[in-house]
Amino acid sequence: MKKIFALLCAACMLTASLSACSQASSESSTASNTASDTNKDDSTQETASVTTVTEGKLTMATNATFPPYEYYDGNDIVGIDAEIAAKIAEKLGLELEIQDMEFNSIITSVNQGKADMGMAGMTVSEDRLKNVDFSDSYAKGVQVVIVKEDSDIKSIDDLTGKKIGVQLNTTGDIYATDDFGKDNVQQFNKATDTVLALTQGKVDAVIIDKAPAEVFVQQNEGLKLLDSSYADEDYAICFKKGNTELQKAVNDALNELIEDGTVQAIIDKYIPAE
Ligand code: ARG
Repeated sequence: MKKIFALLCAACMLTASLSACSQASSESSTASNTASDTNKDDSTQETASVTTVTEGKLTMATNATFPPYEYYDGNDIVGIDAEIAAKIAEKLGLELEIQDMEFNSIITSVNQGKADMGMAGMTVSEDRLKNVDFSDSYAKGVQVVIVKEDSDIKSIDDLTGKKIGVQLNTTGDIYATDDFGKDNVQQFNKATDTVLALTQGKVDAVIIDKAPAEVFVQQNEGLKLLDSSYADEDYAICFKKGNTELQKAVNDALNELIEDGTVQAIIDKYIPAE
């Protein structure tokens, strides 16, 4: 294992937190990921000289209600993001620590210097770019609509006047609120709760990313996806604005993992080709 050189002066940067945003709230738990298949061969690792929130660790903020990107398998957080992050940490000679929190708290946590990066099937958007920096994109997302099998909602236009369930502050929330009005949108902290509300008839439809939508439709009887999709998106990892040292180190590692096919192999493991 290579030694991590914490740069003292960079630690000072962490004290300057940019926290103008809303306070992080409620549930927050920590799951430590041990990359079981960690390659101990030093030649595959770069010398990491990045400063992180906790020395020797790469702390990732996520919301683990979002299969197949991040979800619980027993006490462990698993999924596409968890596996890619473990590979990135390994390349940087750091131990991955995953902090589970509300999706709405991830950017705040990163900006307050509590987490090094946010990775949560997070869509790159103009608005978010005002608050955080992003890595290159590592996956595509698509917003889709879930309805009950016997629903009279056949197209996106039919959503007018219906109750739409979304996860708070996701792009699904932002689009639905813009297009159909705040009064027609019900926000939930967990992606899984949007689907629960749909099965219980508390909302008429859910707007959410396609890969989790497919998992939820499979797990719950009587649900289906509308054929038409709502918006195409790019997923990336976010960092505190101006934390270019870490952003570059993670981005370089990510690009190596994209180029050598590791990222695609992880995605294919969780999302079998159609
Ligand atoms: N892609 C959407 C967004 O960025 C939803 C992401 C939700 N992720 C999660 N882990 N719950 O807004």
